[in-house]
Amino acid sequence: MSRPLLTVILAAGKGTRMRSARPKVLHRIAGRSMLGHVLALAGEAGSDGLAVVVGPGMDGVREEALTAAPGATVFVQEAQLGTADAVRTARAAIAAHTGDLMVLFADTPLITAATIGKLRAELDRGAAVAVLGFEAREPGSYGRLVTDADGALVAIREAKDASPAELQIRLCNSGVMAFRLDQPLAVLDRIGNANAKGEFYLTDAIEIVRAGGGRAGVVVCEEDEVLGVNAKGELAEAEATWQRRARGRAMAGGVTLIAPETVWLSFDTVLGEDVLIEPNVFFGPRVTVGDGAEIKANSYLEGARVGPGARVGPFARLRPGAVLGRDVHVGNFVEVKNVAMGDGAKANHLSYLGDGSIGAKANIGAGTIFCNYDGFFKHKTEIGEGAFVGSNTALVAPVKVGAGAYIGSGSVITRDVAADALALERSVQDERLGWAQKFRAAMARRKAARTA
Ligand code: UD1
Ligand code: MG
Repeated sequence: MSRPLLTVILAAGKGTRMRSARPKVLHRIAGRSMLGHVLALAGEAGSDGLAVVVGPGMDGVREEALTAAPGATVFVQEAQLGTADAVRTARAAIAAHTGDLMVLFADTPLITAATIGKLRAELDRGAAVAVLGFEAREPGSYGRLVTDADGALVAIREAKDASPAELQIRLCNSGVMAFRLDQPLAVLDRIGNANAKGEFYLTDAIEIVRAGGGRAGVVVCEEDEVLGVNAKGELAEAEATWQRRARGRAMAGGVTLIAPETVWLSFDTVLGEDVLIEPNVFFGPRVTVGDGAEIKANSYLEGARVGPGARVGPFARLRPGAVLGRDVHVGNFVEVKNVAMGDGAKANHLSYLGDGSIGAKANIGAGTIFCNYDGFFKHKTEIGEGAFVGSNTALVAPVKVGAGAYIGSGSVITRDVAADALALERSVQDERLGWAQKFRAAMARRKAARTA
């Protein structure tokens, strides 16, 4: 497979059945748009060039394409005249390219690089065009792969144009096609629109290639892999399939999932070996978990780095910028945002730790709040190594607590605390010996007088 590869991704569909203001291909699976998934696939499959075909006014789709693949060229298909017309929209990229040409649909996000590799291998074996097919449970509106007695691909018939006999065929077109032609545009330009839909069908390329003496090959994959997303229900199905695969990959990589079906991973979640994940844990984008860490039940993590051996949860929330060192403990109902916690630091219960840093081995007591926001600006709280913050402390940022310092419980700390000092901010305790006994006796007498 030494020939360069140009991949054309069709993303012009508005997806009216999604009932959404957002273009269909920007809907997300595991935190990444469908277009993002397909662009990543094209990259993994070794594309040397990338062209994305979008509809008019789809600036968001263009932006997403260029963010995910800065080297891609975006083409605008003015009117949706069919899949062949869509591919022809990328004419300039196709004309400038020598090598294989592949067409992917941006609404078909679950195809694997291994399958694309099989399609290209079919080109290596001499096919001029290779089609990715699947045995459909319900062939419905899919194009049917018409084969001859030897099993060679003869044509693709769109359902609306198919004879009753052809409609019986269960081997269907996924839409993915790869070409190995000297002049792909010569084939694409011969495709007309004399069919039931009046559209320019890319699928007509099969008969044109064969008429020119080329061979058409088929590679078959599982139906799950070529699920097309047209409605929210299919989006959820695609998500489920993606999650199943990702959990499998995580476990193969040494992660223990007690109840895999309850753990939601993101497209970029990185989990080390011997990580233990309890039930009902959600990973948003950009989370890395080091070897041997434990994420306990019902925790929510996004944009966070969890160090090796750390313990998070149950019921913990790590937000972007939470960076937990080795053996850090973050316990129940603790929220950490934009705070680096040094090795061995602990915040075991009921705290909001936002914007700042916590030194190694510091202990943050239950109910500690970093008061980071004054209604206009965010400020930092810096806690030194080995400091001890007593329960129910409010730290009004900006504020620094030196290494080894103690903060008495219930304090509202508004000024910096020196290293190894004790800071106490609460009134002196007043104690009256015997008071309660006298009080009860007096009240009992009063009550007796009233009821007499
Ligand atoms: C297409 C295939 C069909 C296959 C099915 C698999 C053709 C003619 N038919 O049918 O054999 O079984 O996909 O799902 O190719 N698009 C554009 N511009 C257009 C038309 C389509 O960008 O003018 C894009 C769509 O956004 C979509 C993809 O191409 O991502 C497929 O188009 P769609 O209209 O869904 O084709 P199907 O009728 O489903
Ligand atoms: Mg379709």
